[in-house]
Amino acid sequence: MSTTAPHIVQYQGSKRVLAPQILMYMPQKFDRLVEPFCGMAAVSIAVAQKRYANRFLINDINTPLVNILKKSIEAPDELLADYEALWKGQFSFEGGSLAHYNYVRDCFNEGCQTPENMLYLLARCAKGSVRYGRNGNFNQSPDKRRFGTNPDTLSRNVHAVSSLLYGKTEFYSLDYREILKMTKKGDVVYMDPPYQGVSNVRDCRYVSGVSFDEFSQSVEELNSKGVNFIISYDGKCGEKEYGEDLPAELGCKKVMLKAGFSSQSILLGKKEITYEALYISKGLQSYERKQVEQLSIFDELSYGTAATKRIG
Ligand SMILES: C[S@@+](CC[C@H](N)C(=O)[O-])C[C@H]1O[C@@H](n2cnc3c(N)ncnc32)[C@H](O)[C@@H]1O
Repeated sequence: MSTTAPHIVQYQGSKRVLAPQILMYMPQKFDRLVEPFCGMAAVSIAVAQKRYANRFLINDINTPLVNILKKSIEAPDELLADYEALWKGQFSFEGGSLAHYNYVRDCFNEGCQTPENMLYLLARCAKGSVRYGRNGNFNQSPDKRRFGTNPDTLSRNVHAVSSLLYGKTEFYSLDYREILKMTKKGDVVYMDPPYQGVSNVRDCRYVSGVSFDEFSQSVEELNSKGVNFIISYDGKCGEKEYGEDLPAELGCKKVMLKAGFSSQSILLGKKEITYEALYISKGLQSYERKQVEQLSIFDELSYGTAATKRIG
């Protein structure tokens, strides 16, 4: 079995590359993984591939995203046929493939938010980065050099994801606080909210932002219920730190995961490394595994020692 977990389509903030590091803080057997901010569910897919859990609850407030996941997992052939027809349509569209993308985007914004339309927009949009306007419309332009994921590549990935999660997954599209109410002891909750730099405000990268105070309160409630969790929450690039630490009273251990070189800094000729913060609840701290090769990619910082500053 390949060690790289499959993924359906690119998604900003995806934890696909970091998932192997995040999984080192999970037990190797537990009841259910709950992902309230699932995006394209990279961590659920990685956990299913490792067979650490046999049941999954995935949720995102962005309903069309969850519908892509649901259909990929439960009716992959139907989704793939719809996507292929749409993808091929760009080559015969009057006005060309860029006009085709704009047409699909207009249909989507007018309410035709089908899984294949959302998937095509994600696969074809510039820099793989979704952008939402003030009115909530999807407003990212098309990538002018690529045509979006080839249906054959997509088919391999969608079938791989389906075989990992079929029959084991519950799907929701609710605010994360509703999902946290459904959690219980024995679950592991993995949370990857939007970065704090854009919290409390409209977030153009996602359909919604998340308030720091409300989020901290929700984490406190998980602690009171004795539910274990892992949270990805901001980080640092070079000397610049992003976001405020979660309150120390939550009793989490904070580690910094090396996420690679920041593409922006490479463009500026600086080659700065980006680190992402990971908070681990008390009940999971004894499960931490370190492999020889991991010692070189982890830089642990003691929680709260670094000066932090909020951006945005
Ligand atoms: C950083 S992304 C998650 C990426 C994901 N870990 C992955 O690997 O693809 C954050 C996600 O949180 C979702 N989100 C934002 N506000 C939310 C809320 N209040 N409740 C649930 N999901 C929310 C966004 O739609 C976005 O998909």
